[in-house]
Amino acid sequence: IIKTPFSNLIINWYHIYGRKNLPWKKHKHIYLVWISEIMLQQTQVNTVIPYYIKFIKKFPNIKCLANASLNEILSIWSGLGYYKRAHNIYKTIQLIKKEKNYYFPESFEELIKLPGIGKTTAGSILSFSKGYYFSILDTNIKRILVRFYYLKPQTSIYTLEKYLWNIINLITPIYNTDKFNQGILDVGSTICTHKNPKCIICPLKKYCIAYSINDINYSLLYNKKKK
Ligand code: ADE
Repeated sequence: IIKTPFSNLIINWYHIYGRKNLPWKKHKHIYLVWISEIMLQQTQVNTVIPYYIKFIKKFPNIKCLANASLNEILSIWSGLGYYKRAHNIYKTIQLIKKEKNYYFPESFEELIKLPGIGKTTAGSILSFSKGYYFSILDTNIKRILVRFYYLKPQTSIYTLEKYLWNIINLITPIYNTDKFNQGILDVGSTICTHKNPKCIICPLKKYCIAYSINDINYSLLYNKKKK
């Protein structure tokens, strides 16, 4: 199951077609990557862009944000939705100010303890800002894996979740992890979409089982839950 050129296909695709000009790709400071990843959690890239630009203009670094009130943060967030994320940013920055002397944590163990940061957000932050080797798994990536490997329905969602993490851990490359992670996110959100996937231009199509047996809507089985 694992011996496919999956990661090379994604990385080669990323070099040519990946979205490398997004505003959060310009500065890799962990603070800025953190803000972008929180914004991207439940919101699409194109919606996030103007909010991200406005946010970092107002709060370009940790100290600026640490001096902001919750209301100032909320007013920039206004319109983006899922306001719990803005509250989490406020809580996190206060904690960093009071307990970490304005130093943003750079270990996975510390990051996942922060409000609103799970395994995938922590892995994204560390791979994109530091190039560290961490796998990520969001709804889009799950859909790619289910189609590509034509995964069978499991007895429980928990089993599938564990299974998918095992697979993504095996196929995530140790080198170029950041390019792989960004590439697979981009393929998932722009090509291997839930409806009308653009298989013709997909870098994975040659090895994708769902495509090869002409059953690209296979992933529809797995759309019952969202976090
Ligand atoms: N979703 C979460 N993080 C993302 C990123 N860095 N790029 C695109 N989509 C994302």
